Amino acid sequence: MTAQLNARGDVAVLVPAAGAGVRMGPGGPKALRLLAGEPLLVHAIRRVAAAASVRMIVVAAPAAEVEAVRELLASIADVTVVAGGAERQESVSLALSVVPREIGIVLVHDAARALTPPQLIESVAAAVRGGLPAVIPVLPVIDTIKEVGPGEIVHGTVDRSVLRSVQTPQGFRHDVLAAAHAAATDPLTDDAGLVEKAGVPVTCVPGSEFALKITRPLDLILAEALIRLP
Ligand code: C5P
Repeated sequence: MTAQLNARGDVAVLVPAAGAGVRMGPGGPKALRLLAGEPLLVHAIRRVAAAASVRMIVVAAPAAEVEAVRELLASIADVTVVAGGAERQESVSLALSVVPREIGIVLVHDAARALTPPQLIESVAAAVRGGLPAVIPVLPVIDTIKEVGPGEIVHGTVDRSVLRSVQTPQGFRHDVLAAAHAAATDPLTDDAGLVEKAGVPVTCVPGSEFALKITRPLDLILAEALIRLP
């Protein structure tokens, strides 16, 4: 069944999935890797579409795959698919450029975080709505982290209490993200990084174990188990 987006919602969610590896068909890329028989992108978009205040979803796909990605997502929700750019940052900019100005909150999400619950999407959006210009969902770092030098010699132990593991969606006031992208000079910086560089405070909110990035074989096994939870 096609999910209805909230026509009165104040949130747009951008999903850059235009990496060179993104091809339809077998042996394909991260976003199209199958989880329980469906591509990660489909799982991700289904959960985004279920978040109550989402009015618009924009996926950036490789230019040659725009039509195929549109067809893939047509039964999930009314998703806008645009051609991405040469770098991830350009793909985000191109997706952002089709979001109407009156949508005040823009989230940038990663299709590989395919099981991100709608509640996390809403809590990031709510924090921006509450007045924060930029918000990232995070988890505490559990492992002990060592700093090492040549020969794997330990230089020291990093103070874990000041570290956070960052997830998506990252949430921004529309004007803040647009200004950060307009001023961007380093194509490798992520969205929150661009906003940080612009001197805008970025605030952490609690993330979710379900928002894990599904990239390694073990992640897929874990995700297959999580998806079967009642
Ligand atoms: O290749 P990398 O892991 O950095 O890509 C991170 C994300 O950015 C992937 O989802 C990829 O599809 C997306 N991307 C994009 N446009 C590009 C390059 C990467 O949307 N030109």
